[in-house]
Parts: sequence; C-alpha cells; structure tokens
Amino acid sequence: MDTTISRRFLIAAAGSLLGTAGLDTLAAPNPPAGNKTPGMLRLIGNENPYGPSPLARKAVENAIAHSWKYAIRETGMLKKQIAAYEGVKTSHIMVCAGSSEALRVAAMVFGRNGDRMVTASPTFSFLPTYARSLGCAVDQVRLDETMTHDLDAMEAAVRADTKLVYVCNPNNPTGTLIPGPKLSAFIDEVTPRTPVLVDEAYLDLWDDLSEHTAVSSILAGKPVIVTRTFSKLHGMAGLRVGYAIAPPELIRRMEKLRVTQMSYTGVMAAIASLQDTAFLDYSRARIHECLALTTGVLQELNLPFVPSRGNFVYFDTGGSPREFMAAMRRSGILTGLSYAPYPTWARVSMGRVEDMQVFAEAARSYFSQPD
Ligand SMILES: Cc1ncc(COP(=O)(O)O)c(C=O)c1O
Repeated sequence: MDTTISRRFLIAAAGSLLGTAGLDTLAAPNPPAGNKTPGMLRLIGNENPYGPSPLARKAVENAIAHSWKYAIRETGMLKKQIAAYEGVKTSHIMVCAGSSEALRVAAMVFGRNGDRMVTASPTFSFLPTYARSLGCAVDQVRLDETMTHDLDAMEAAVRADTKLVYVCNPNNPTGTLIPGPKLSAFIDEVTPRTPVLVDEAYLDLWDDLSEHTAVSSILAGKPVIVTRTFSKLHGMAGLRVGYAIAPPELIRRMEKLRVTQMSYTGVMAAIASLQDTAFLDYSRARIHECLALTTGVLQELNLPFVPSRGNFVYFDTGGSPREFMAAMRRSGILTGLSYAPYPTWARVSMGRVEDMQVFAEAARSYFSQPD
C-alpha cells in the first residue's frame, strides 16, 4: 500500500478530525431531501443510512474542488489500498462504479449470445437479467427448503456449454449464508468446468468474513470472481464504488469491457471509508441492532422469517405482500419486495434503529388487525 499518499490524503481528509465523537449523531435523514417519495422511510433498497462515514463525508467535501480532473491516479491509490486490505495483488483487483458494474461486465465476458449460466432462484437479479438481455440462457436452480443455495442441484445444472455460475453469498433476498468450507468444496468441484462468480455484497456486515469469503479460492488459483461493494457496510450506495477480485487474467478480460471510469468523489470517499474502522464497527453494530429489533418483532407476531446475514429480513406476511406493502406505505414506510416462488413473503431493509422502531409499530398494528 502506498502509505505516504494515503497518510497525506487522510490528514487532509480528516480535517478537523471528526474521529468517533460524532458517530451517535451520524445517521443521515431518512428520507433524505429530494427523495422521490417525500416523507417516506426507505426500508426497500438495502441501503445504509448510517453512512457515509465521517471521514468519507469530509473526503467528499475536499474532493469536490479536485473533481475537474479524472480520478486515474486516485483510482490506482484505492486499488492499492483494497489489495492490501484483501491480501491480494493490485493485478487481482478491478475497481468499478458499484459492484453492479462488475456484475454486468462479468455478464459481458461470460454471458454472451448462445452462452449459458447457472444461478439460484430467487437471487439478486442484476447479473442474470443483464446476461439474458445479451442473449445468454440462464438456468435457475430453486433454493432449498431453508431458502439457501442448493449447491448439489446447481452443480448438476452445470452443462458443457455453461460459462459461469453465479452465487450470491449471503443471498439477496433471503439473507442465507453458504459457509466457507461448503462453498470452497463446491468451487473445487465445478471450476474445472466453469468459472464461479461469488457476490459478497453483504459478507462484510459480520466480522467472520475471512471464514466465508471465496477470495481464498482465488489465491488457490481457481477461476473465481468475488465482488464487493461500498454500498452496504460503508453506506455509500449513492457514491457508486465497488470492486471485483479475480485472477489477473480474468481481471484483464473484465477491464477491457468496463463501461465507465470512477468519480473523483466516490474514489476519495472509499479511500477514507476503508480507514474509518471506528465507523465500520459502529455501522456493523447498528445493523445488527436493527436486525435483532426487527426479528424480535416478527417473533412476537409469530411471523416466520429467515435468520439474515444481510441488512434486510425476508419474512412471511402470511397473506398478500402487496397488501402489506400498501399498508406500510400508508404508514409512511417504503418496504419491499416479494419474490417468486414465495407468494406470501416480503423483504424489509434495515434503516436506522429509530426507523425500525417505526416499522415495528406499523407491523404490530397491521398484523394485530382482525382479518
Ligand atoms: C447481492 C447484491 N449484489 C450487488 C448489489 C449492487 O450493489 P452496488 O452496485 O451498489 O455495489 C446489490 C444491491 O442491492 C446486491 O443486493
């Protein structure tokens, strides 16, 4: 890591050194000014209103004056910092405009017209939807009865013309986690036939990431791509920063197809946020608190839910999720979404602790009404 540059940068970025003192007053207004649905709490997009971190906010302010230039050198700095954090080389990293850019680029590399890919269902649909629009066939494999990836069935779905397997771990929308050893055995089994992309957008919300990440398979030389994002734990969804980790040969192929360059503000915010470990711990703790509060209410209401490793909870409304969402909307809460083949289930994203208290009251009132 280029410590000279990042230390110099950090001193500038920290400015008055916000440190951890302001963390308790950190949460962004939910909803922010300019929201399309003014007055509505956003518990729909798996965002994190505790972010961006104090250092990242300061970095954005400082970056504005420099934003007349392309962030080429700064993107290189961020790449070095990510490589050090991940314990890989910079040649293993592609920095991108949110991890969804990496997912789309992977679709362009592996999901062209006439190709096939294997995914779970339901899962995060960005990659398979984009691949389909490029003419790729997507073989969807139902989650098992615990709403977790059915890895045996996914392995059986791999055909001679399969070009990629997409695994979302933890899975969106169910929040289920494939434990590291199980995932790495699956990777060992299928990678002689096809590369595997593991979307780890939510894995850093817990501090046992190293037990479950597929980065170890990349270091073992397997054709695996891991994607990560600054949109969740770091609370920077609107700044659009993510990255892919993969063997250098795959990174070179993906870099050729990247769609855009990074914004100066996003890159500088990400550099600062990676260093703001006090905020990252705080953010993790608040998300866990929100999950405990939300699942506590679901338990109290006798509504089945999946224990979640994401910043959202998938639960059984026991009726029409549409009606539930409409009722929440009337209470000023945007919540979502429902996914086939679970006609009565819905997902609620974590907001701030006080937002989840508002949700808890609205849910109590909705579910205690007579039919
Ligand atoms: C599993 C998963 N991967 C990737 C993304 C995309 O995130 P971003 O493009 O903001 O990095 C999301 C967003 O919700 C997600 O749920």
